[in-house]
Amino acid sequence: MLTPHGTDSFRANSVFGSSSPKAIVAMTLRSSALPSDEEKAAQVRRMFSSIAPRYDLLNHLLSMNVDRWWRRKAVDRLGWEREPTGTYLDNCAGTLDLSIELARRPGFAGTVVGSDFAFPMLRIGEEKSSGHPIEAICADALSLPYRAESFDGATIGFGIRNVANLDTGLGELHRVLRPGARIVVLEFTTPAWKPFRAIYFYYFQRVLPFIGKLVSKHGSAYSYLPESVLRFPEPPELAARLEGVGFVDVGWTRLSGGIVALHWGRRS
Ligand SMILES: C[S@@+](CC[C@H](N)C(=O)[O-])C[C@H]1O[C@@H](n2cnc3c(N)ncnc32)[C@H](O)[C@@H]1O
Repeated sequence: MLTPHGTDSFRANSVFGSSSPKAIVAMTLRSSALPSDEEKAAQVRRMFSSIAPRYDLLNHLLSMNVDRWWRRKAVDRLGWEREPTGTYLDNCAGTLDLSIELARRPGFAGTVVGSDFAFPMLRIGEEKSSGHPIEAICADALSLPYRAESFDGATIGFGIRNVANLDTGLGELHRVLRPGARIVVLEFTTPAWKPFRAIYFYYFQRVLPFIGKLVSKHGSAYSYLPESVLRFPEPPELAARLEGVGFVDVGWTRLSGGIVALHWGRRS
């Protein structure tokens, strides 16, 4: 894994630019004079680093295991079959579940770069993903240390909502994709159907933070989850923002009664 301190096991060097990858990642992670976006990013990184040991357990518990199906649907949309030997970016990869979902598909013969700025999340992911063609890279989604047009496709699962600047994060994804490559964004949203919305909000704002705090022992991470979802753009606006940074053929669908939205698009 390429860490903030430079232990580099990354082999797919073609995705990096001419500067040393270690230098780039170090520059990205050592931000100290913090304007608000950077302060938010630092808080998010601390939070995920802290809940990392319980993250997978809570994901599966709080979603009743449906999170696995959501990730399967995301990979189904990626169109990796057109370039099965390609290099794919899983941005904000966390504990690498989406990376693994892609890497283990029968017929996949490429590489997945699982990129995240919370080192403890990646460490847990690495333990789970040994034997799969996955390279874990510690990097900031707002300033990706990869060359322009170097990936054959990209996913971002439950990550873009946490990125301090949405347009910069989407713009970075656009920059690193090859022309024609697909982006798939999996993210929480809120259900539109009123009776379900009421039940869902009770679960999301009361039950989930309670269980999340109990299991993770983190005071605020699982209250932050519903707050951040409510602040995040609804699917039509997210689709417009994807188009705004240059993606074409953008589409989206709601999953599981509208609690999750799957967006896709193509770099022109
Ligand atoms: C909710 S987790 C999702 C992890 C994984 N994709 C999944 O499907 O479970 C969000 C991840 O986004 C990462 N993240 C948030 N902002 C980031 C940024 N600016 N750069 C890199 N990673 C970021 C966090 O560290 C965290 O691991």
